[in-house]
Amino acid sequence: MLNNVYDTEDNAVGRRQREIFESHAHYDDKQFDPDREELLSSMEENGICRIINVSSDFASCKRTLELTERRPFIYGALGIHPSDIADMDEEAYEWLRSSAVLPKVAAIGEIGLDYYWEKNPDVQSRQRYWFCRQLELAREYSLPVIIHSRDAADDTLKLMKGIHAEQIPGVVHCFSYSPELAEEYVKMGYYIGIGGVVTFKNSRKLKETVKRIPLERILLETDCPYLSPEPNRGKRNSSLNLPYIAREIARLRGISEEEVIEAAYGNAYRLFRKVK
Ligand code: NI
Repeated sequence: MLNNVYDTEDNAVGRRQREIFESHAHYDDKQFDPDREELLSSMEENGICRIINVSSDFASCKRTLELTERRPFIYGALGIHPSDIADMDEEAYEWLRSSAVLPKVAAIGEIGLDYYWEKNPDVQSRQRYWFCRQLELAREYSLPVIIHSRDAADDTLKLMKGIHAEQIPGVVHCFSYSPELAEEYVKMGYYIGIGGVVTFKNSRKLKETVKRIPLERILLETDCPYLSPEPNRGKRNSSLNLPYIAREIARLRGISEEEVIEAAYGNAYRLFRKVK
């Protein structure tokens, strides 16, 4: 059933049962070691029909591939996170390139810039170099990108415009910048990943962003095990919390939770074209 029911967008529109697409999770994280299999086995009955497991360092790329082999509904994003850029060299890059063609590798990510955790200008420059190279890899293999950008708004946009990243499909995940910048990314054809932070009382900017960008550009994500939404803030996160995020987006836009879930599902299928 998993493999053939929702192959097309038309089917997605016509379906009755709630089906939620998790666009960003880290189930290879050690926080899931005690109960990973049990938790993943409960996804389908809770309406979580597809999951993109996103890599951060080289070891997590390998663990992500293993997860995609074991679970039909899990697809992988391979890439080196800016905070793990010490893992990146030409050999790792060649491995990424040879793995990008695997059928269940649906994206390159997460990649980007993180100046919040990295203040050293030399390392920041290294982040920019490998961000560029990984964007080019996505272009080469016609894969979408999953962008991580924190405290690096100007450099991220400048770099992406510089290499014409509007030609590469993608999502800016866990969006943390201004509504105006979100609109700029939307103009470039990007999706905006909305996660648990939107449920926090003090997330004024993100709530405003959610009201302003088109519903057709919103993806649902948890970034689990991190960033649990209210009412589970502070606890380990999982995709089972996605309805809380959808509910808050629905409230902000004055539409139903089902509309949000359905739109985000269609959006994710449009972006991650290798997902069956
Ligand atoms: Ni993440």
